[in-house]
Amino acid sequence: MIETGKNSNYAIKILMDGGIVAIPTETVYGLACNALDEEAVNKVFKIKKRPKNDPLICHTDSIKKIKKFVLNFPKDAEIIAEKFWPGPITILLKKNNIIPDLTTSNSEYVAFRIPDNKFTLNILKELDFPLAAPSANKFEYISPTHPDHVNLNFNKGEVDYILDDGNCSIGIESTIVSFENNELIIHRLGGITYEEIIKNIGKCSIKENKKKIPGQFKKHYSPNKRVYVGKINKLYNKFKNKKIGILCFDKKYDFIDEKCQILLTENSSLEEASKNFYLSLYKLDSLNDIDLILTSYVPNFSIGRSINDRIRKCSENE
Ligand code: TXA
Ligand code: MG
Repeated sequence: MIETGKNSNYAIKILMDGGIVAIPTETVYGLACNALDEEAVNKVFKIKKRPKNDPLICHTDSIKKIKKFVLNFPKDAEIIAEKFWPGPITILLKKNNIIPDLTTSNSEYVAFRIPDNKFTLNILKELDFPLAAPSANKFEYISPTHPDHVNLNFNKGEVDYILDDGNCSIGIESTIVSFENNELIIHRLGGITYEEIIKNIGKCSIKENKKKIPGQFKKHYSPNKRVYVGKINKLYNKFKNKKIGILCFDKKYDFIDEKCQILLTENSSLEEASKNFYLSLYKLDSLNDIDLILTSYVPNFSIGRSINDRIRKCSENE
């Protein structure tokens, strides 16, 4: 087991010495190291088994600090940052040469966000370097929303410490945006919803990036067991001689053992479903009595759109 606790000062010391700490955020746990230290960044790529063309998000605690690492901070980006930070949105900004090319996979852009978690903000305040922190899971596996998940992905010796703040409150990753020619481009939908962005973009227009940016691989966020998405009754008929588990939105089904089903929310709350999403995938992936997971899309608005993006990316039926 990786050493786990609530000792922020210990975490700060490890990070200053070039070590790796799993940090809590409101979205998912991050595998953090000094973003300016190439040796530490290399180690993060290596233990995650992440390809070098998939850049790492950087975290700090203030816009003022970010300005030390970017060529400019466009006005439109500042409106979004002021509105949503600390919070689950990441902004792509043109980097200066203090940020190593390794951290951004040779992109001229660096991804920055200020996370909304008191332990992690306290750490970031004490550091004069940003923390590179991709989600603390093996490449393509389920994102971690609890220290136990980090322990399932990594061994003692790979990660020096897990800073424990229990379950993540939002439970899916940040929304990633960039700004180009008066256009706000959404690269990944996450904790901040499309509707919230629309309300706060000022004079910008909005567009969803359909092209794949590095790192937006087709199969992602996936359990080891296969996930099939669609109408549960139909899928059940197709797979009924297999041992089936179901990831249910707000109701269970009577044709399968109750123990093999996990409910995302009892009161049809998309926020609750988001918080429970990865947690439930970890549970289903660990159940011995099932071979495959059936699920269906959740209502496609607000954070439901972000959940549906993750369902699409972890399932077979693209
Ligand atoms: O909520 C989150 O964003 C979490 C927490 C820990 O902050 N982090 C996270 O990191 O989800 P990760 O690495 O699992 O996902 C970040 C995504 C990747 O798909 C990566 O390709 C993209 O952000 N990204 C990072 N830097 C980028 C850059 N410079 N240009 C384009 N995409 C970038
Ligand atoms: Mg990830």
